[in-house]
Amino acid sequence: MATIDALLANRVRGLRGSAIREIFKVTQQPEVISFAGGLPAPEMFPVKELAEISQDILLHKGAIALQYGITEGYGPLKELVKNRMQAQGIWSDQDDVVIMSGAQQGIDLTAKIFLNEGDGVICENPSFIGALNSFRAYKGVIHPVEIEDDGMNVEQAEEILKSNPSIKLIYTIATFQNPSGITMSLEKRKRLIELAEKYDVFIIEDNPYGELRFKGEEIPTIKSMDTSGRVIYVGSFSKILSPGLRLGWIIARPEVLQPIVVCKQVNDVHTNVFSQMIAAEYLTRYSIDEHIGKIRKLYGHKCGYMLECMEKYFPDFCKYTRPEGGLFIWCTLPEKYNSLDVLKKSLERKVAFVPGSTAMADMDKPSSSFRLNYSTMTDERIEEGIRILGEVLKSL
Ligand SMILES: Cc1ncc(COP(=O)(O)O)c(C=O)c1O
Repeated sequence: MATIDALLANRVRGLRGSAIREIFKVTQQPEVISFAGGLPAPEMFPVKELAEISQDILLHKGAIALQYGITEGYGPLKELVKNRMQAQGIWSDQDDVVIMSGAQQGIDLTAKIFLNEGDGVICENPSFIGALNSFRAYKGVIHPVEIEDDGMNVEQAEEILKSNPSIKLIYTIATFQNPSGITMSLEKRKRLIELAEKYDVFIIEDNPYGELRFKGEEIPTIKSMDTSGRVIYVGSFSKILSPGLRLGWIIARPEVLQPIVVCKQVNDVHTNVFSQMIAAEYLTRYSIDEHIGKIRKLYGHKCGYMLECMEKYFPDFCKYTRPEGGLFIWCTLPEKYNSLDVLKKSLERKVAFVPGSTAMADMDKPSSSFRLNYSTMTDERIEEGIRILGEVLKSL
């Protein structure tokens, strides 16, 4: 029999699992101080409320919750998401919404309906590995664009668009980017829409962190300025309610959503109805904005505390971003260092983080950057971990 490798489809060859998952195995050990994950703070899950809601649903609407559902999503949840998005200006008359099994599915299905082998996608470099791997799996060509303090370098993006007619998509996490924590300026957002119109491409605006601002001024989403239906907006309940519910959504015009719905049918038929009913009921009974307010406060504190500790313990040659929201701080060492080597050393001392290369378009190129997450560790562990990491950095 041929080896499995020989039988595997071309589209999965060369795909590599996230190094984050590998690191996760180590970070499961309780003694490890992990800044590696991107998990929301579990103490923020409204466990009691969701337990009551779940019981009520099963007792009173069990026949619906446990039955097959509609691919587009559970009607009441669609309506609630639509109302929230409209209140935030993330909607135009030509748009509709489809509920997804997480934002990841939204990105993946968007890639699936647009990309033929060899079609191009412009991405911030670094970017979210889940999205990069979806583009890779459909044999898309990733065109990396550097990310500056105020977001993607749009001039560079235009140069790439000019010389690559096969580009179909621009993928951006414009607000509190994963992994950099950087937010794109208003000017660049407007410019990106102009580019999408000029070069006839779509923008995927992936916005799972946008509501987690704890500092600074709100900047309108790209979608809220989209008058020509060029922006496909992907939202998520993962960071504002619970990732385990696996709920996200896509807002786009029907011509985009129709093929996505067909692909979703063959992918997972529909999003978990029980989960959707839980979220709908939570949004009806409680104020999710109040809940998000508590999450913002907690993350604002944790981010501020981690930055204070970094100020105290890190050597000057380590530069880092100061995010105004979201979950991540991005650190950059002088180019001669490889953050994978730093990780090996820090793991010996039971401190974990995500090395930058995992988030780059070219994963094989060493990166001197790394990502720190502050949402799940206690203040004591943040200080201890940053102190140890500071010692590792100083010893390089
Ligand atoms: C930028 C970005 N997009 C999408 C996702 C996936 O979100 P979801 O849990 O809704 O699938 C993540 C998860 O960490 C993310 O960081």
